[in-house]
Amino acid sequence: MAKTISSRQWSSALDGISNLKLTTANIPFPIAGEVLVKINSVSLNYKDGETIEGLFNHHKAVSLPQSIIPCADAAGEILETGEDVTKWKKGDRVLSVSYPEYLTGKITQEMLGAGIGSSGKGVLCEYRIFKEDALVPTPAFLSDDEACTLQIAGTTAWMAMNGTRPLGSPGGKGEVILVQGTGGVSINGLLIAKASGAEVIITSGSDEKLARAKALGADHLINYRTTPDWDVEVLRATNGKGADIVFENGGAQTTAKSFNCVRFGGLINAIGYVSGKVDPADERMNINLQLIRRNATMVGMLNGPRDRFEEMLAFYERHQIRPVIDRVFSFEEAKQALQYLWSGSHFGKIVVRASS
Ligand SMILES: NC(=O)c1ccc[n+]([C@@H]2O[C@H](COP(=O)([O-])OP(=O)(O)OC[C@H]3O[C@@H](n4cnc5c(N)ncnc54)[C@H](OP(=O)(O)O)[C@@H]3O)[C@@H](O)[C@H]2O)c1
Repeated sequence: MAKTISSRQWSSALDGISNLKLTTANIPFPIAGEVLVKINSVSLNYKDGETIEGLFNHHKAVSLPQSIIPCADAAGEILETGEDVTKWKKGDRVLSVSYPEYLTGKITQEMLGAGIGSSGKGVLCEYRIFKEDALVPTPAFLSDDEACTLQIAGTTAWMAMNGTRPLGSPGGKGEVILVQGTGGVSINGLLIAKASGAEVIITSGSDEKLARAKALGADHLINYRTTPDWDVEVLRATNGKGADIVFENGGAQTTAKSFNCVRFGGLINAIGYVSGKVDPADERMNINLQLIRRNATMVGMLNGPRDRFEEMLAFYERHQIRPVIDRVFSFEEAKQALQYLWSGSHFGKIVVRASS
């Protein structure tokens, strides 16, 4: 007989963070191939703010329901296993996989459309059913608060560093990595790059955040507000050569400058658009022309598959890299947590603790 567990969950009608609602639902018992997970910690990504604000509309492959449970990245433990589940047992510590069908290779439109916390049910809830393949083991050395920060932000940073190299051959030694801003992707990029033996240039609009990045090992600090020509600074810091790999998180206000300071033959990862989605210099700067001008490779970066996520987790474990958490909010404070994310005043990751 099906038994049910009641779960509190946050839901959004995609009409803004201030309209998030705390509701209750029954969680069904897992059927064959499924597991029931007690969610312990959830981390927040830029995309979560965008989705709830109704601004995540640029992916044609993603059709959003009218109401969602937000957020994609969670850590928890297995409570019940369905029939035929061999991979997990009760009590196992697990991490969600943000795109549950994206297990290896390149992402397809269908896999993108199944992303959790947007078109698929998210994780900002106390209990959730997962398919057994849509989870990976939590590294033993990390707490749930730490580990839940690594799915989107960590894997994207890992892919920006290693996604174009063959699986299992991480690089970075002797390279210069430019990371823009001090959010989740950038700070994971900084941690991975330093552990890989690379040199890191980081930009931020805040001197205080730059000081924190320096304490984490950043080699060159540039405030993009007081130094609007930060691309010139990058060239100066690299003796005119430019950065080997750019984490292009800024978009409208930063892409052209990234092309100015990527090294010849370097890699620009088009990751984000925190400074705007519309390129004001569009008419003057054709992206193809810029790619050819610098003989650079620009890669559309869409998170990464499960095997690269696991590769990244093993790397974190080997180097004992601990994720950087700015603040931990209680479950009841999820709305404030998302407002804090959306204000952009955080450094690294924000976590909502789903259980005390
Ligand atoms: N393609 C993918 O798979 C993927 C995956 C993850 C994220 N993303 C995208 O990558 C971007 C960053 O994501 P996130 O989760 O790391 O965001 P986040 O944690 O919210 O951090 C955003 C940071 O961007 C920085 N920023 C704002 N304006 C900037 C500017 N003009 N130049 C440089 N930095 C600026 C700010 O850092 P300071 O305060 O230090 O300036 C801010 O803290 C977002 O656009 C997100 O949608 C894409």
